[in-house]
Amino acid sequence: MENKVNFKNFWYIACQSKELSRDKPLGRTILGEWLVLFRDQDGKPKAFQDRCIHRNYQLSKGAVKDGCLRCPYHGWTFNSDGQVVNIPAEGPNQKSLPSRKALSYECIEQDDFIYVRLERNPDLEVSPFRMPHYKEKGYKTVRLFNVFKNDVTNCAENYVDVPHTVFVHDEIFRVSKQEKVEATCKRDNGSVEIDYRNETDNLGWFSWFLNPKKTPIVHKDYFHMPNITSVEYIFSPGKEFFITSQSIPINDHLTWVYTDLTFKFGPLWNFLGAPIVRYQGQSVIDQDIVVLDNQMEVIKKYGADFNNSKADIVHVFIESIREEIQKGGDPRRLKSRIQEFEFWV
Ligand code: FES
Ligand SMILES: [Fe+2]
Repeated sequence: MENKVNFKNFWYIACQSKELSRDKPLGRTILGEWLVLFRDQDGKPKAFQDRCIHRNYQLSKGAVKDGCLRCPYHGWTFNSDGQVVNIPAEGPNQKSLPSRKALSYECIEQDDFIYVRLERNPDLEVSPFRMPHYKEKGYKTVRLFNVFKNDVTNCAENYVDVPHTVFVHDEIFRVSKQEKVEATCKRDNGSVEIDYRNETDNLGWFSWFLNPKKTPIVHKDYFHMPNITSVEYIFSPGKEFFITSQSIPINDHLTWVYTDLTFKFGPLWNFLGAPIVRYQGQSVIDQDIVVLDNQMEVIKKYGADFNNSKADIVHVFIESIREEIQKGGDPRRLKSRIQEFEFWV
């Protein structure tokens, strides 16, 4: 029987690698599912449903001993496969341990993130997204974490929404000049790619450093199904800046967002620039949090009723991909579309 495509088919970040120690489990929620994460004897991450099969206490409140997860209620202990390996109340000679296992999920560690996939019988071939240039020679990454009281669609749209930047991030990020920007927006294979043209010095106070000669900037934005946005800037030769965000659906109104600000400014400025990039990046996100929290409050009160202008083609394509998954379809089978558009910022 063919499974329907759904959001559980995809890989989501459950936590950063450094958050998962070897001696303590970690509780997380993704798509409303309660998860417990821990590291086995080899340090490999494991994910189970956060529910002891004995009397349903939360395993995330327990302990990790020798790579096994121990429930705090009666001490039932589970190995990395979810097999019960010890029931303390049964004494020293435990002959018939239950064959029923803890419900486990696929779990992968990559780019210092721990990813899980909730669909236990996925029929969709996907792997966790590779963070661009993470730990590559010449590149430096500042990693941010933020919580938005909104859904993944609205968060993802915000990160690749250029017109809002002159209003919400006036001065910090971009100065309003009412200049025309032309772009090509392409939807293909479950991704949206936007290629911006004639952007030069409209980057707020960064311009003197990032683009002193005012050469045209290469700027491309991407959305990759179901929850990833990536912004690429290539300024003057040798100066590159990537903003990659993974929006994790905790529930319908709450999204945890991991953002990598990855840059190549040369050895000295990679080092000196990191705190500035962190401060500026977080300031920009703080402004978006205010907007997105408010947007969801309004949607909760009145329902979502969006109207699009021609400048909103990026949003329309992103929504079409997420709606396709919602309907049980594979967005990679949607017809390719290319649309030229222009807007003023
Ligand atoms: S509920 Fe977990 S050991 Fe009893
Ligand atoms: Fe923004």
